Amino acid sequence: MKINVRKGKLVEVVTGAAVVIHFEGEAGLCGAAAELDEKCGGVIADIIRQGDFTGRLNQISVIYSLGCLPAKRLVVVGLGKRADFSSERLRGAFSRAAQQIRSLNVKEFSTSLDFGSVDLAPDRAAEAAVEGVLLGLYQFTPFKTIERENIREVLEFTILDGEENNVRAIRDAAKTAEIIAGAVLFARDIVSAPANEMTPTDLANEARASAKGKNIRCRILGTGEIKELGMNALLGVAAGSDEPPRFIVLEYRGGKKSSPFIALVGKGLTFDSGGISIKPSEKMDQMKSDMAGGAAVIAAVRAAAGLGLPVNLVGLVPATENLPGGKAYKPGDILKSLSGKTIEIVTTDAEGRLILADALTYAGRYKPAAIIDLATLTGACIVALGDHVIGMMGTDDDLKREIRDAADVTGERVWELPLWEEYDELIKGDAADYKNSGGRAGEAITAGAFLGKFTGGYPWVHLDIAGPAWLTKEKPYIPKGASGVGVRLLVQFLRNRYREGEK
Ligand code: BES
Ligand code: MN
Ligand code: ZN
Repeated sequence: MKINVRKGKLVEVVTGAAVVIHFEGEAGLCGAAAELDEKCGGVIADIIRQGDFTGRLNQISVIYSLGCLPAKRLVVVGLGKRADFSSERLRGAFSRAAQQIRSLNVKEFSTSLDFGSVDLAPDRAAEAAVEGVLLGLYQFTPFKTIERENIREVLEFTILDGEENNVRAIRDAAKTAEIIAGAVLFARDIVSAPANEMTPTDLANEARASAKGKNIRCRILGTGEIKELGMNALLGVAAGSDEPPRFIVLEYRGGKKSSPFIALVGKGLTFDSGGISIKPSEKMDQMKSDMAGGAAVIAAVRAAAGLGLPVNLVGLVPATENLPGGKAYKPGDILKSLSGKTIEIVTTDAEGRLILADALTYAGRYKPAAIIDLATLTGACIVALGDHVIGMMGTDDDLKREIRDAADVTGERVWELPLWEEYDELIKGDAADYKNSGGRAGEAITAGAFLGKFTGGYPWVHLDIAGPAWLTKEKPYIPKGASGVGVRLLVQFLRNRYREGEK
């Protein structure tokens, strides 16, 4: 989809649809909406007066201009109360407008971002609007072969502004939004892809293909190197599958040579059957999305490189399937991890923390300023917080605050779970150092506590994305299925941290 930013007026532009907004409960129309309304004999004001349109959040009304304007249609979208205005609401509203426009099979639309007095600069508003449109119009169609003519696509979105200075700022913001949203869509594509088309090897190839830009490099370790290094926890999980594991190392050097790395670690289970401790068959298909953390990490590195952020970044993704083959690891087995610490297997379905243990240890090679891991780690996190929340655990208060601040901007819900020492008791091994499950009590937390044993004392945050990674019900700008959660969060975290030069 093409995004244009131009100097001009919405009342004067030839377009399939002119999108304007209205705040709930306001008598007057603001900005471009008022101008369009005047040209059209007060038609918008009239639908408001009649009570047909109130401006309730994400309410949409389509009005045909019948030649009173160069624009064919007016699409009025409600933003709720002005006092509750936020970039998150703007994302949702523009997504809904774009979806409505697509359903009418209109190929191109325009808007102007003058909302009267709101607490959001024009460039910020543009970023949110472009993100909303691009994220909301996502559809996963590469495997649809019949009736492809029914797949509707919007091809162009134009933002108009009357002032040259604004146009420049909006153009930069739109470009930024395109890069970030592009990375989210890339992550969604990877997560949506079925496990037979997204094996560990395929995932590694996606990482390599996304490493084409400046200052970015990808190294893929195969079974031989993984063995040589001693990543036996990763190898243990991989043993039950005929698909060889991969360890993906994606480096982006955008910072000064002397600046320390930030390490992003993502769980890359391209399919999690549970292994010998096999999962119930119901909804097992959803476990193709068990690499959502890995996808988010690859996408975030790609976005950081695309934005040219002044940061040194390494993305680490251990990738494997978890299957119950003849060589599969078994409950009771003891694995010696890359760190040298031994792990007793209680259940082969607690596989994510095993492959992450080796990846977290590997991250120590970079002596990172921070480690952030993302993983669809536990069903228990969904039970605890609901399926729209990222569970956060970690050792560093500043880092946790930075993640919270970033989440406030991106609208990704993050809530902290405690890592008190009492939880350590639950993952003490009988015959080995640790066991890979602490039982049902506090399961999301004991999983986090387990990971903490392998972080080498570096500032670290763990994000359990088991809930929000895959949506069973759509949200305003997140269609059903793969959400790409975490990508915008990571990028915003990096943008905040490296905004004023390097740390
Ligand atoms: N990938 C799953 C967690 C998961 C469950 C993600 C549902 C998304 C939706 C993970 O590998 C797993 O199986 N966790 C177990 C841990 C338990 C066996 C200790 C779980 O949550 O049941
Ligand atoms: Mn599992
Ligand atoms: Zn899993």
